[in-house]
Parts: sequence; structure tokens; C-alpha cells
Amino acid sequence: MIKEVHSEDETKSLGLSIGLSLGGGEVIELVGDVGTGKTTLVKGVAVGLGIDEYIQSPSFTINRLYDGRDDIKLSHYDFYRLDNAGIMADELGEEIGSPGVVTIIEWAGVVEGVLPDDRLTIKITSPGETSRKFELSAGGDISRNLLKRIES
Ligand SMILES: Nc1ncnc2c1ncn2[C@@H]1O[C@H](COP(=O)(O)OP(=O)(O)OP(=O)(O)O)[C@@H](O)[C@H]1O
Ligand SMILES: [Mg+2]
Repeated sequence: MIKEVHSEDETKSLGLSIGLSLGGGEVIELVGDVGTGKTTLVKGVAVGLGIDEYIQSPSFTINRLYDGRDDIKLSHYDFYRLDNAGIMADELGEEIGSPGVVTIIEWAGVVEGVLPDDRLTIKITSPGETSRKFELSAGGDISRNLLKRIES
């Protein structure tokens, strides 16, 4: 699925539709340069999960956990500028696939080894100052089902 948007609000709306489609147990990898809107998208996802807390870039803590609707937890990682994920890689590996947890990762390169094939990969590019192109692709059944719900 490819989606082009032209404002920050439209990016949040796309995030919202993803958030509304989540059931727990999904893994989402966000791929894109600095400032393309990865964290902005997560803000929309959080709204769709019924989270009213402010979503901050988890840069220093690497991971932040939020409680959402229907006992779903949103676990947001950001490995920006880390060349070694250390113990966080193990934590992430253990968390993946836990029922009720939605895992979203920015700058996942350093933890590629622990990511499941079955993840929704969202590639973001920025053709203009406020325009963004999102390419969503699924690597297995869980993420394919998620993608179908997002599309419908
Ligand atoms: N259509 C858009 N969608 C998202 N952000 C946009 C858009 N147009 C402009 N922006 C701006 O781009 C920036 C996106 O910042 P954001 O923190 O979401 O990026 P990021 O991909 O998470 O970056 P980083 O790699 O540093 O974590 C914000 O300053 C936002 O205002
Ligand atoms: Mg970010």
C-alpha cells in the first residue's frame, strides 16, 4: 500500500487508521530519514489506541511503554545513533510476539537480527517540505492481516 500525504495532520490521520486497526501482537518498523515523520505517525497510532499521554521521542530511554485500549500496550523504540543495542536488543526480542503488545521501532538497523520477518514495514520519504510518501509492506500473516484492516 502506498499513501501520500501533504501535511502533518494527514500523517497523524494515517497513524490513526493504523492505530484503530491494531489488535495487539503486531510489530511495525518505521524506516525513513531524520524528520520524515516517524514519531509523528506514532502520535496518530497512539490516538487510535486510545492513548492520551503525550508521545515523546524515546531517544534517551530508547523505549517507552504506553497503556492503550483493550489492554493493548504500545511499546515504542528508537535506536537512533546506537551502534550497539546491548540489553535493549534482548528486551525487544523477548517482547516481540507477546499478545497484547504492539511494538513500533524507529532506526531498527541495529536490532534487525531480532526483528521477525512478520512485521509491517513502513518506508517514509519526503518529496517536499510537507509532503510525505508512505509505503507499507507486510512480511507475514499477522502483518498482512493488519495491512488489510488498514486498507479497508
Ligand atoms: N506531512 C508531514 N508529516 C509528518 N511530519 C511533517 C510533515 N510535514 C512537515 N512535517 C514536520 O517534519 C517533522 C517530523 O518530525 P518527526 O519527529 O516526526 O520525524 P522522525 O522521522 O521521527 O525523525 P527522527 O529520525 O529524528 O526521530 C516535524 O517537524 C513536522 O512538523
Ligand atoms: Mg522520531
